[in-house]
Amino acid sequence: MSESVFILKGNIIYTKQPDAFEICERGYLVCEDGKVQGVYQTLPFKYGGYPVTDYGDCLIIPGLVDLHIHAPQYSYRGLGMDLELLEWLEVNTFPEEAKFEYLDYAEKSYQIFADNMRRSATTRACIFATVHREATLLLMDMMEKSGLCTFVGKVNMDRNAPDFLCEETQESADETVEWIKDVLHKKYRNTLPILTPRFVPSCTDALMEDLKKIQLRYSLPLQSHLSENLSEIDWVKELCPWSEFYGDVYDHFGLFGADCPTVMAHCVYSGEKEIERMKENGVFIAHCPESNMNVSSGIAPVRRFLEEGLHVGLGSDVAGGSTENLFAAMAHAVQSSKLRWRLEDQSLDPLSVEEVFYMGTKGGGAFFGKVGSFEPGYEFDAVVLDDSRLKHPQPLDVKSRLERMVYFSDDREIRAKYVRGRQIDTD
Ligand code: GUN
Ligand code: FE
Repeated sequence: MSESVFILKGNIIYTKQPDAFEICERGYLVCEDGKVQGVYQTLPFKYGGYPVTDYGDCLIIPGLVDLHIHAPQYSYRGLGMDLELLEWLEVNTFPEEAKFEYLDYAEKSYQIFADNMRRSATTRACIFATVHREATLLLMDMMEKSGLCTFVGKVNMDRNAPDFLCEETQESADETVEWIKDVLHKKYRNTLPILTPRFVPSCTDALMEDLKKIQLRYSLPLQSHLSENLSEIDWVKELCPWSEFYGDVYDHFGLFGADCPTVMAHCVYSGEKEIERMKENGVFIAHCPESNMNVSSGIAPVRRFLEEGLHVGLGSDVAGGSTENLFAAMAHAVQSSKLRWRLEDQSLDPLSVEEVFYMGTKGGGAFFGKVGSFEPGYEFDAVVLDDSRLKHPQPLDVKSRLERMVYFSDDREIRAKYVRGRQIDTD
């Protein structure tokens, strides 16, 4: 008997396609060597004798994937939400991020972030740190300890930032290389570096060119912001008058998915050409609906992205978003799509609960490989939800119970969590 086989029993629910749930009630989910071996209504004979954890009437779903979150902003989530993006960055974000120069503050703040990520239903995340190399390494140590699988980026910014946060161009590039070397020495299992130019207004052409060289040398993926807010987009046009559209600036420097996986947050105002380029280059979109409301950005045309077959996942974008809870991001995605349909454009239908669940699991999971589904061969990331506290007088089927989890967005129901076949402590 292989020691690497174990089995979970419960109400298994996941999405293979954006438009339908796959459901196996009181079924068996088999893990072998950290991967999903299969989902069965009746356990095959060959798995008799392997350990089964019976979660009774609980729901078992794939781990959730957060394609965009800022760890240093966790400390002021839920604050300053009455400002628009650029003012919000000046007033709230930059002064807070500056504090991460001091490791004792970074340790206190990042520990709260890492603990709450560990307790959440999230198993994978793409995380922005700050410009500070040492604090970024500290965050990576903590994420590694948490058991989650994450990409973490030291932020680059060499213009349009206050003096206390702005780097010199050469310093930004050199510190990035030093940080990557430090990370390679650490030999993390689950924590990987990702290049993180903050957004076009914070990075000079010279820095973008340096980042491309670094990307080619170390084969790193990249994360950034794109077409988020109208005043930001006007600013990019002023800074780069030669560009055809915002994403064209990243593409001009070879930082738009051409060589390495790329995830761009927001894409609220991506037009035909930008959508076409993202499709050609396989760029992932992190849809962050709560943030888009909070900092007055708008509502992204997600239905259009899905129709075009683009890669779309969800992001909490804390602290633009107020919570790391991705069920909340799913609910906000449905709600904002309905407002968009009602107020802006009736040609794009609102999103369904199946579609937002798909985006929060398999859609975003594809950035990490075979992640976010219970199809055979997928990495075994699973979350067990015990919703027995949420009483109801009428019978509810498994799909309805999951739907309530999405809309209630309450993380008290998380009973267990597994990442790559290993159980994580969620207490
Ligand atoms: N654009 C540049 N930086 C940020 C940030 O920290 N949050 C959001 N939402 N947008 C940004
Ligand atoms: Fe962001």
